[in-house]
Order: sequence, then structure tokens, then C-alpha cells
Amino acid sequence: RKDLLDIASLHREEIEFLLDQSTSFKKLFTRSVKKIPALEGKSVLMLFYEASTRTHSSFEVAAKRLSAEVTNFNVDHSSITKGESVRETIETLQAMRTDYIVVRHSHSGLPGMIARQTTAAVINAGDGAHEHPTQALLDAFTIKEKFPDPRGKKVLIIGDILHSRVARSTSTLLQKLGVEVAYLGPGSLVPKYVPASIPRFTDYEAAMAWGPDVVYLLRVQLERQDVQFFPSVREYHRVYGITTARLAEIRDRGLYIMHPGPVNRGVELCDAVMDYERSLITNQVENGISVRMAVLDWLTPGGDFPKQEAYAAQP
Ligand code: CP
Repeated sequence: RKDLLDIASLHREEIEFLLDQSTSFKKLFTRSVKKIPALEGKSVLMLFYEASTRTHSSFEVAAKRLSAEVTNFNVDHSSITKGESVRETIETLQAMRTDYIVVRHSHSGLPGMIARQTTAAVINAGDGAHEHPTQALLDAFTIKEKFPDPRGKKVLIIGDILHSRVARSTSTLLQKLGVEVAYLGPGSLVPKYVPASIPRFTDYEAAMAWGPDVVYLLRVQLERQDVQFFPSVREYHRVYGITTARLAEIRDRGLYIMHPGPVNRGVELCDAVMDYERSLITNQVENGISVRMAVLDWLTPGGDFPKQEAYAAQP
């Protein structure tokens, strides 16, 4: 496989391979190994048109641990600010013959467009409301650390499902692993048509009665001007957030809490969640490095994944 653009097209064997490799990398690097030469001589270009802390920094750490050279494309100081089109930027990137391009952009499908026009291995680090595949992989990895056989476990995803690339990628991946997924959020922010296998709730108590093992809060995208939050963020916290009282119930039931970050404290979660013993939010960030190492190591810049044809033949 040359690129990682989405979860939807990944085969189960590929997912299991990546999660196993992530485990190996995590073990290797907790034994105080600092660097391995897997990608020596390779170059990684970080092309982030949108803000990122976790994804950007963990890709950079992952690439450096594999001995790759990392270049940060500074969008603010590039010719894009002088009106250069994405197409011209892609032609420039191709001329640089970089081996990997890690790209985040507000337009769905842009990483795919770059992938088709360059020989580099392109990794989607989040495109619009479409996909965020490495977030999904690190979420699945984090869940599998707690539930090695996650089949039949239940994950309740809460928030703005409609605009969330995390919800799309993570729920697709969890379902491929046999995890049950449900959505909870205001009616306007949960898609009207979801697969029949995904229960859709607008009421918190009804969703909790479904019996989740993990409660996964999505970030409220306060920067989105076109979304009215119910009708205020304070009200959103009261109706859909993990309040202090709800945290007590979650603790009694032994549920895990996840969040992709960055957290809006007092909106999705009360402050006390940060000290909750079953919060996996820090684990998610830490696991992002091993998972992204596995992804970089797995892709073959300029070539094909050897088993690609065999996987493509499967249903
Ligand atoms: N989860 C996530 O994508 O976080 P960043 O925006 O900080 O990369």
C-alpha cells in the first residue's frame, strides 16, 4: 500500500498488522531504545494547513525515532499566502521527491488528490469532516490495551458526530474489529441516516441504558461558526457533557473515558475527568507515537504494498 487515506478501504488483516506492529514499537521504545534505522535516508514532509498539536508532534517524534529526516512546511510562510494554488504546491512537492507527505487540510479529499499526483506515500492527518485514520488506529489500539478481544464491547460516541472526521474514522474501524458503536448528540449534530447497526440517541440517560464500556467524547468545534451549540456551550455541558455528577455514575459503573483532544474543559468534560483513574486520554496521546511509527514503517513510498493484490481480491 502506498498511502493511508482512510479507514474505510483498510482490510481487517491490514488493521491487525498495524495494531500488532504498534504493540512491538511501544514495547521496544519503553525499553529505553531511542532510535532505530528503519527509515534511514527517507524524508518526511509535514504539510499542515490546519492547527494540530498531537498529530503533528507525534508524527514528528515517530519519524525521528525511525531515523527519517523531517521537514515542516510552514503554510504561514509559504507561497500559498501569495495565492499559489494547491495544484502548484503539489507540483512543487513532487519536484522535491520527498518520500512521505503527512497532510492535514480542511478540504475532504485533498490528501487523496496529492496521493494521485505524487510518488510520495501520503498519510491523511485529517481532511475536513472526512477521515482521520491514524486517530482511529490509536483509539482502537488504546481500547485493545484494555480489552484485548474487543468484540462485543460497546463504545458510545458523544457530540458533533455530523462534522467529526474522528467519529467517522473511529466508528468505522471499531466496527471492523467487532466493537458495537452508538452515537449520542443533539438531533442537529447526529447524521439522520446512520447504518442500522449504530443506535442513535439524543438523550443521555437512554444512551447510558444501552450499556457502554467506553464513553468517547468528541471535541466541540467552537471555531465552527456555522454550528449553533444547543444553544450555548454551558447548556451543552449540562445536557451532553460529563458533569461531576455523571462522572460519579461513570466511576461506579467502571466505564472508560476517551477524547481525541484538545479538550474544552467545562464543555465536553468537567475538570475532575482529568484525574479519573479510567480516563484514557493521556494513553491516547502516548499511543499515537507507536501507531504512527507503525504506519510510517508499513507504507512503501513509491511502491506497492506487496499483499495489496491479495487483499483487493477479498470481499
Ligand atoms: N486529535 C487530534 O487530531 O489532535 P490535534 O488537532 O492536536 O492534532
